[in-house]
Amino acid sequence: MEQDTINLMEGRIMNKIVLISGSNRKGNIEYILSAIKEQILESELILLRNKKIDFCKGCLRCHQVPSCILQDDMSMIIEKIKEAKLVVFGIPNYFDNVSGLFKNFIDRLHPLYKSEELKNKKVIFIFVGGGKEEGTMNSLKESVQGFIKYLQLEVEKEFSFKALNSNDMKQKKKEIEEIIEYIKTQVI
Ligand SMILES: Cc1cc2nc3c(=O)[nH]c(=O)nc-3n(C[C@H](O)[C@H](O)[C@H](O)COP(=O)(O)O)c2cc1C
Repeated sequence: MEQDTINLMEGRIMNKIVLISGSNRKGNIEYILSAIKEQILESELILLRNKKIDFCKGCLRCHQVPSCILQDDMSMIIEKIKEAKLVVFGIPNYFDNVSGLFKNFIDRLHPLYKSEELKNKKVIFIFVGGGKEEGTMNSLKESVQGFIKYLQLEVEKEFSFKALNSNDMKQKKKEIEEIIEYIKTQVI
């Protein structure tokens, strides 16, 4: 009985889903991820653009100890990712690649590559580009290949959208609903 109570409490305080935006602006990805957050109570939205995340120094100290010498917001983000049942990454297409903001975030996950703590973590990717959906899908899937491989992430699904100006996704409410319905099947 006591054990059940503890589990219930843990269930309440843990964020089942962590939503991470790799966009530099309040645009399409933030719109999509905010809509998901609104409909899924146990979720948390992290905007990388508002976080202090320094560049990886390349020192490789994390090969000796499973932590980073840099003291910034990354340790908090890593803890949230570790706890999450599902992580949703929203990434804009910049020159057929991920944004620099997101690449920097990937690099700072290097300590987790050595510790294998994200092995089999369920993830979903949402890509947004101003050009054709297929082009953005192909380019960004390629860009995140190493990230997925080295951290041994389990990719549940990838979505790709064509949206150039910051408000364009507001015209695609049906597509966003479909993402939300899909996510609900993964966590409920
Ligand atoms: C520096 C930069 C480079 C971009 N390069 C591409 C590109 O190569 N292909 C593409 O489809 N869209 C490109 N775009 C358009 C963005 O992907 C598009 O504006 C998207 O809506 C950004 O998502 P956001 O509103 O969530 O920031 C680029 C935008 C910027 C700012």
